[in-house]
Amino acid sequence: MAYPYQIRTLDQYHQEYKRSVENPEEFWDEVASNFQWKKKWDKVLNWNFKEPKVEWFINGKLNITENCIDRHLASMGEKPAIIWEPNNPEERVRIVTYNRLHKRVCQVAQMLHNLGVKKGDRVCIYMGMIPELVYAVLGCARIGAIHSVIFGGFSAQSIADRLYDADAEFIITCDGAFRGNKDIPLKSIIDDALIGNRSVKKVIVYTRTRTPVSMLKGRDVWWEDEMEHAEHQVEKDGKVYFPAEEMDAEDPLFILYTSGSTGKPKGVVHSSAGYMVWTNYTFVNTFQYQPGDVHFCTADIGWITGHSYIIYGPLSAGGTSLMFEGIPTWPDAGRFWDIVDRHKVNILYTAPTAIRSLMGFGLDPIKGKDLSSLRILGTVGEPINEEAWHWYDDNIGKNRCPIVDTWWQTETGGVLISNLAGVTPAIPSWASLPLPGVQPILVDENGNEITERDENGIIKGNLCIKAPWPSTIRTTYGDHERCRTNYFSAYENLYFTGDGAMKDEKGNYRITGRVDDVLNVSGHRLGTAEVENAINMHAGVVESAVVGYPHDIKGQGVYAFVIFEHLHSDENLTRQDILQTVTRIIGPIAKPDKIQFVSGLPKTRSGKIMRRILRKIAEGDTSNLGDTTTLLDPGIVEEIKNGRL
Ligand code: WT7
Repeated sequence: MAYPYQIRTLDQYHQEYKRSVENPEEFWDEVASNFQWKKKWDKVLNWNFKEPKVEWFINGKLNITENCIDRHLASMGEKPAIIWEPNNPEERVRIVTYNRLHKRVCQVAQMLHNLGVKKGDRVCIYMGMIPELVYAVLGCARIGAIHSVIFGGFSAQSIADRLYDADAEFIITCDGAFRGNKDIPLKSIIDDALIGNRSVKKVIVYTRTRTPVSMLKGRDVWWEDEMEHAEHQVEKDGKVYFPAEEMDAEDPLFILYTSGSTGKPKGVVHSSAGYMVWTNYTFVNTFQYQPGDVHFCTADIGWITGHSYIIYGPLSAGGTSLMFEGIPTWPDAGRFWDIVDRHKVNILYTAPTAIRSLMGFGLDPIKGKDLSSLRILGTVGEPINEEAWHWYDDNIGKNRCPIVDTWWQTETGGVLISNLAGVTPAIPSWASLPLPGVQPILVDENGNEITERDENGIIKGNLCIKAPWPSTIRTTYGDHERCRTNYFSAYENLYFTGDGAMKDEKGNYRITGRVDDVLNVSGHRLGTAEVENAINMHAGVVESAVVGYPHDIKGQGVYAFVIFEHLHSDENLTRQDILQTVTRIIGPIAKPDKIQFVSGLPKTRSGKIMRRILRKIAEGDTSNLGDTTTLLDPGIVEEIKNGRL
């Protein structure tokens, strides 16, 4: 069998789960022995959640790119590693074989080496969804540089903050990126981000859109020139070679920024070995991947889902990963189904927000599309409502494809709670069972385990995890204390997810959503404080408060209450101005859906904004706002209620 650790039956799941919890070291020792190591580990696991310290495969040495590429070459060199579908369906599809991927990654590694990149250096990658992005990511990993991919929708200011936090010395970008009918000028945004920057030494620019760019002498170089030079260096006697740096199991592989409840995004750091083992293990088990399957994950590589299930999971398993440059609704809302049909996709992994948005176009876009190659469907990013689940099941899976509802986070590196496709039962809108090695626990505000069940046998509480899994977050870059206070200090000896959950009598979990000041907008995380900071940057804004409200397509929408100094007659113009500012400071993804101007905010006598009240008003549920007598100015609630948008 291709993957000896692939669970194939329900009984086997229960056995494996039990084994993984009773004897984790033996369990993961066995799984890890299926990878290519330069030196075997001395011990499987060391940990305490106090510091926190989590170390897996101690003193093991490896390079993840040898596991994602080199070890597949002998048997699968000419098999497709990546199938690339361009934004414009008229443009040529690119099939990247493992041999070709090997060559390109060696070239990038050589190019980075030539430009002075060394092990441990931070390389920021800001590119569209093109194969070169994968070459860049893996080229970094090959020489041991730490990649930090930034989603193409972030603004110059957001990039500048991340470059500064990571102390990045190198950037890989493109002239521009195609998305639908838009052409995003990536290089020009990078130029803005670099004003005042002191750390970046080189910017490598790949030509994708032929948008005019300004190239700074001594700093900016063309990818094409550097790669051509590198090509001669890595090719000898018809063979391609660039040594893969020997990495310690715990050497950081990448940083990925994500929002939290404070104003500043955190640089989540993942390790080399643990992350590799977990993304591979969860890929093979959750999706029941079989050799030859075409796996289509629709996420952007700028998010963790793309890192784990477009690049590292599928490639480490020798799989075929379909990568799509565009968006689901361009040139029309049948694009996903057209891709599934033309490339005979077997596994489709997407987000509830995409499903809901496509639902809105009815069944016409599906007509005439052959979806019979599909075997397994998946969702990720937010709770999936039953209506969307059934639409997906009926119209895309035609009631013959198991749907996996995968719950996880940037910090967890890979899936923690999900059914295994066709192996463990799927329950609409339930993420269901933990993967082997994952020990969830529901606790109350004091960190005590909740065991009391309601009349339906359900337990509700805050979702924590009791013990480390191989791809546990290792630190937040440059600030370990922040990692501790954010995830490991709310409850002693537990990792706190920030999510609330329910558990039924069979041990299935249903995630109910964030319990902190974090929004989930179209499956993307947004901190309310972060959006408020951006709004407050706008001249004339005195103060603001941001909350989420249920949104038909996005899951959650952003509702902003804003105190504005001198509101002139055209409120809408002021709204547009504020949206511009948010776009400048964070990016279009953070734009509020609703902006209500208010003369004050409901605050306690100590000055704390009562978000509970604002949330209720935004949700339109104003019948019971709870006790408002402790407010500094109880009258303000009435005004806000009446002005609700
Ligand atoms: C938050 C993590 C993990 C990749 C995408 C998002 C929510 C994620 C589910 C799911 C219910 C989910 C949680 C989590 N979430 N998947 N299947 N069911 N909620 O990554 O940006 O790190 O966000 O997304 O609230 O904490 P992220």
